[in-house]
Amino acid sequence: MSAAVASAHSHTSRLSEGEKYYLRFDDDAKLRLAQQNRVTRELMGGSFLSSKVVSHLQSIKDSGRRPRICDIGTGPGDWLFDVQSQLKGLDIHPVLHGYDLFPIHFPTKEEQDAKDVQFFKLNIHDKETFPALVEKYDFVHLRYLSIVIVGAQWEPAFKNCLTLLQPGGILLWEEILFDEFEMSDRTQYPYAAKIFDMGVAMFVRHGLLLNCSPKLNPLFETHFRMTSREKFSTTNLDEDWQRLQAKNMYMVTREMLTKKLEGGGRAAAEELNFESVEEANKVADLSMEDYKKGCLTNMTIGQWIGEGYVP
Ligand SMILES: C[S@@+](CC[C@H](N)C(=O)[O-])C[C@H]1O[C@@H](n2cnc3c(N)ncnc32)[C@H](O)[C@@H]1O
Repeated sequence: MSAAVASAHSHTSRLSEGEKYYLRFDDDAKLRLAQQNRVTRELMGGSFLSSKVVSHLQSIKDSGRRPRICDIGTGPGDWLFDVQSQLKGLDIHPVLHGYDLFPIHFPTKEEQDAKDVQFFKLNIHDKETFPALVEKYDFVHLRYLSIVIVGAQWEPAFKNCLTLLQPGGILLWEEILFDEFEMSDRTQYPYAAKIFDMGVAMFVRHGLLLNCSPKLNPLFETHFRMTSREKFSTTNLDEDWQRLQAKNMYMVTREMLTKKLEGGGRAAAEELNFESVEEANKVADLSMEDYKKGCLTNMTIGQWIGEGYVP
């Protein structure tokens, strides 16, 4: 990393560690994110970067500069590593930076150096934690953050992210459209249905959006010369992929439940309409059996691409 960029990243930040986050940070969570990354890549036809993004990066390379790419809310950086290998095949070797509020996800410093991908702490809701970069990014990516952005936070969070983007740059954002989830026969798989509904209810109770399109559509249209939108559904994938998606759905709702019960015990269980922590855990175990028997929960992803950022 250049000295100018290094100094831009070395400022002390004021982060509130109490920031709410409904998922966990253990190895299961890492596995879930890696699986979700694979399902998403398959959904997008095997690669995360469309030809228009690649040609933007290629033209930067042709101008004699290393393209600069960052991923906000990156977790362990699965997207960054995939993009690195896709671009390597095209002889494009970008600067790659990942940002997240929880560095516990990050690869070790040694791994970051060995793979030439650097990670930094940042809170999407706190502008003070965004680095004042000398060189901004040509391409900024965000994915699956609707679990951390409640209604009124979309616009400020979006604008914080734009502070890292070069004028003329590209912003790519993908979110699950939770209101378009399709579940197999609910009467056949009642426990999976119950845990799934609990997850949705937790979302709604926390003020999270089941469909963030009404927030993202106008923000992209206002700040970019051109915006395109696309939807991808796992119903179009082979059954093995749909099963992996269902397993992921089980893991994510189980994680949300476990974290909630750890924090709130019986009161938390009652809030979720269970009589006790034991009953909640039993229903969660039975929901796993439903998934093993074949319950599918297909998801739809919305993708927004903004080209030509106008500050
Ligand atoms: C569902 S994961 C998605 C991870 C990654 N984008 C992906 O698609 O694999 C949500 C990520 O948001 C991060 N996160 C939570 N609150 C955040 C905040 N306030 N600012 C930045 N990142 C945050 C979490 O640590 C987690 O890595």
